[in-house]
Amino acid sequence: MNKLIRAKISALGTYVPPRLLTNADLERMVETSNDWIVDRTGIRERHIVDEGVATSDLAVEAAKLALAEREIDSSDLDAIIVATVTPDMFFPATACVVQHKLGAKKVWGFDLSAACSAFVYGLQAGAQFIATGAHSKVMVIGADVMSCIIDYTDRATCVIFGDGAGAVVLEPAEDDSLGMIDFMHEIDGGGGCSLYMPGGGSLHPASHETIDKKMHYVHQDGQAVFKYAVRKQAELCEKLLQRNGLKGSDIKAFIPHQANKRIITATADRLGLRPESVIINIDRFGNTTAATIPLAMETARQEGKLKKGDLVLLASVGAGFTTGVALLRWAY
Ligand code: UT7
Repeated sequence: MNKLIRAKISALGTYVPPRLLTNADLERMVETSNDWIVDRTGIRERHIVDEGVATSDLAVEAAKLALAEREIDSSDLDAIIVATVTPDMFFPATACVVQHKLGAKKVWGFDLSAACSAFVYGLQAGAQFIATGAHSKVMVIGADVMSCIIDYTDRATCVIFGDGAGAVVLEPAEDDSLGMIDFMHEIDGGGGCSLYMPGGGSLHPASHETIDKKMHYVHQDGQAVFKYAVRKQAELCEKLLQRNGLKGSDIKAFIPHQANKRIITATADRLGLRPESVIINIDRFGNTTAATIPLAMETARQEGKLKKGDLVLLASVGAGFTTGVALLRWAY
């Protein structure tokens, strides 16, 4: 077998819609309070789309910024992977819609459904096309318009989620010490009933009944997901660090999925991470599902915490259950 080529992230672009939904707005919509939301989740505000704006629109804005940063054209891309749980439509794939809107000429691509772990999984899938030498430029986009599947009368879910997108370009790392190092992913379908949207698929096709029963919204057993996330995220991170002979204190930037500030700090404590290495932006964006990790990469960059050569740990747990952890050295 030929030597595998290490993939690196060579550009990053992110986008959130301008409209803000603050905790004060939610206080007027459901029986909740700013104090409860901040205390239990860490969220202060989230961005949501205006009517008619779809996941592909956010994805394209993020993609354009990543292309501009790398100073390449969409036609230089070989593949586009769109990680999302809120595609524009069941089909065609949102990757096709994004390809068309970008005017990318010679790409193929697909959507990847793994909820909050989808960006990390997409990164790994994209890295394999680089590793084998099949491709030299793969775009991975995490994008979700969660507001389209949220019941804004259900206080248990509507305070949590927001909309957003982030895109990265993957390329071969000429310097073998940079780029994607290792990963450890796991799915556990036994947790499917803890976080799901039951309506609209082949099991419960859309009908008046599915709408009346609010089956087209996110349903979550928050405590069950919380407990699983705290346990599993730390467990896989620990194993991955151990396999690579690393300690938590070696990590320069811990970039976790932003579902709940308490999940992030619990993982950070268990791993012995340095507090300044833990990237948290849930206060400004809420849980944007597949977009949280690229959005948090951007936050890390803005805070001066993502420099060439820095050791980065990505971690996510989401519906499925899906868990993803990945280790990389930031490459530019
Ligand atoms: O990204 C996908 C993965 N998702 C996650 O990782 C989410 C994991 N879960 C969580 O983050 C937390 O479980 C939540 C933030 C969803 C909920 O926080 P919690 O501390 O687990 O609250 P709870 O569900 O145990 O509810 C505690 C109380 C309940 O009232 P009673 O029964 O004690 O009277 C709820 O009815 O808080 C109540 N409550 C609220 N009160 C004010 C639930 N939602 C709200 C609200 N405002 N928005």
